Amino acid sequence: MNEVLTLALAKGRLADKTFDLLEKMEIDCSAPRNPGRQLVLWDHKQNIRFILVKPSDVPTYVDHGVADLGVVGKDTLMEAGRPLYEVLDLGFGACRLCIAGYPDKIRDTVSHATFRVATKYPNIAKSYYGEQGRTIEIIELHGSVELGPVIGLSDVILDIVESGSTLRANGLEIMEEVCDSSARLVCNRVSLKTKRERVQWLIDGISAQIMQ
Ligand code: PRP
Repeated sequence: MNEVLTLALAKGRLADKTFDLLEKMEIDCSAPRNPGRQLVLWDHKQNIRFILVKPSDVPTYVDHGVADLGVVGKDTLMEAGRPLYEVLDLGFGACRLCIAGYPDKIRDTVSHATFRVATKYPNIAKSYYGEQGRTIEIIELHGSVELGPVIGLSDVILDIVESGSTLRANGLEIMEEVCDSSARLVCNRVSLKTKRERVQWLIDGISAQIMQ
């Protein structure tokens, strides 16, 4: 019997795209595709255990070694700043991390107030503005970040832009691009040594699928 391999997946679109890849490798994803309220799901034949978690928790599970591998957006990975081994860029879930706001309004107000940045990514914001030597106030939000400049809570947002429709719908404009993001396969550093063959089998299989 193969050793158990545990995968932590971000619930939602990234998990669905990951299942598409895994199914092409004959891994049975029928249980995690329809989990109900269950959080631990199995492909018993391949001895693979899936855990479905919030995107921002994927790096935590993999870093602690309770998951051997995980799939998570590069944005979330950068924000978490954990020492994981980033194995593959899976290509899907592509988006950009951007600074957005009302460019004209900023020119009027920024000179006499602390520049306020609303974001779900406080660590990325701190390092981005820190590298530029700019002092900012970070206002941490957990969703609907675009509301920040709309309602006057912040001057700009640092957030992901995928289609751009949320920005457009709220009359906001991209002012700076921070970096690109897409889904990444990450691995626990210890698992890579102690379960080398199993981990490599999965990495090679996924790698072959994304190159097709
Ligand atoms: C994300 C992000 C933006 C939006 C960008 O939010 O924070 O709000 O998607 O996508 P778009 O460019 O295609 O419009 P999400 O849908 O995850 O919801 P949230 O605001 O509650 O975090």
